Amino acid sequence: MSRTYHITTFGCQMNSADSEIMEGILAARGWRRAEAEDAADVILYNTCVVREHAEDRALARLGQLKALKAARPGLVIGVTGCMAQKDAEALREKLPHIDLILGTRAIARLSPLLDRVIATGVPQSCVETLDEAYPIEIIPVRQRPLKALVNIILGCNKQCSYCIVPFTRGREQSLPSDQIVAECKRCAADGAREITLVGQNVNSFRAPGEATASFGNLLRRVGEAAPDSWIRYITSHPRDCNAAHIRAVAETPNVCENFHLPVQAGSDRILARMKRLYTREAYIDLVGRIRDAIPTASITTDLIVGFPGETEDEFEETLDLLRRVRFDAAYMYLYSPRPGTPAAAEYKDHVPLAERKRRLAKLIELQEGIGLENARGLIGQTMDVLIEDVAPRTGGDVLARTRTDRMVILPGTPEQVGRFARVTIQDANAHTLFGVPVRES
Ligand code: SAM
Ligand code: SF4
Ligand code: F3S
Repeated sequence: MSRTYHITTFGCQMNSADSEIMEGILAARGWRRAEAEDAADVILYNTCVVREHAEDRALARLGQLKALKAARPGLVIGVTGCMAQKDAEALREKLPHIDLILGTRAIARLSPLLDRVIATGVPQSCVETLDEAYPIEIIPVRQRPLKALVNIILGCNKQCSYCIVPFTRGREQSLPSDQIVAECKRCAADGAREITLVGQNVNSFRAPGEATASFGNLLRRVGEAAPDSWIRYITSHPRDCNAAHIRAVAETPNVCENFHLPVQAGSDRILARMKRLYTREAYIDLVGRIRDAIPTASITTDLIVGFPGETEDEFEETLDLLRRVRFDAAYMYLYSPRPGTPAAAEYKDHVPLAERKRRLAKLIELQEGIGLENARGLIGQTMDVLIEDVAPRTGGDVLARTRTDRMVILPGTPEQVGRFARVTIQDANAHTLFGVPVRES
């Protein structure tokens, strides 16, 4: 029987890619997507637990579904993703209206387990598969065929002391290069003009059977396989960003020159406590090497403030790092203790919440100023963009993105969505550039 489904996705690019795989499984059964949750026969929540806030949001929404389930007993409610993996037992106890719990590497079992729930009405779960291989034969249903996500590596072996991800995503496992290349070719043939290779640590990619990391080789192969698409990747780790990676970006014309390299903190003592495996100077040196090789590259980052024991001086070192590196953009977070992580267990010297918030506000203020200055430095320059959408607020404009991952608003029409264009930048604020198309002679 054909049914309808609705998937809500929280969290990072891994979850977005997984939701597309789950949608692929359901679409292959002939099921249809419901536009609204309350019109769906099956409701799936693909959850995130990286910070407490993400967890709370998902829990609140799942709690609210109890009433819907009471009104429609045939409704099937499933939880997938990182909360399902980490808290299956607690979820079963606290939210008995959930019918299905699928761990992060169990999504290929969606179909048979759903069948069992529907046939028996008995809740099902599968979270024992954490270090297992991933399905490879499922064709994802992409949310935006123009901008495709392609998984290249699962899990994370880094074990940063604050981070829950290794517990929810399991050991690192690179997918076969041939499979990745074939998938990228298929995306391009389906109209993708941008392909983003995703993983928690994409640049520790190591083709099965190869002894050394070979992310650079993969970038070159993918670039060649999809020559008319831009290639991006997220997230790369500073520790694994080697010369071969930088060279591959420099030498592969369609690989975009944006380096998102989460630094997290600017103090060596805090970096060591975080177990980030690099020092402040090593990071600054890396940025220098990238800029020497690719002067137009943008460098973006993630930062955590108020890690346990962070002193005012150590926080100042983070501010100082920002001034030295001059990031183009940064995601900035309050440290959120995650039960089960080494940092939550070992470090009791917590920075009070009010102080963490004060530091975050200061950090954001500094970064906004730097981001704005960098953006204004682009005024007058001409660059390539991919037109992604019509602009929501201003009629007659389109939204585009530069290779360096900056958003540009320019005059344009809906038919231009999906095309590349050359634009001259005329104005800028911290997060958006404003341009006009260049008339090619
Ligand atoms: N794997 C990527 C890396 O290490 O560069 C990032 C993965 S994580 C999903 C995204 C970001 O969330 C991290 O870079 C970090 O800044 C932030 N994050 C992770 N755990 C956190 C925590 N316990 N509290 C606050 N922010 C956290
Ligand atoms: Fe978490 Fe660190 Fe792995 Fe990133 S590298 S996912 S921050 S453990
Ligand atoms: Fe969240 Fe899991 Fe991604 S915890 S950030 S969805 S890996």
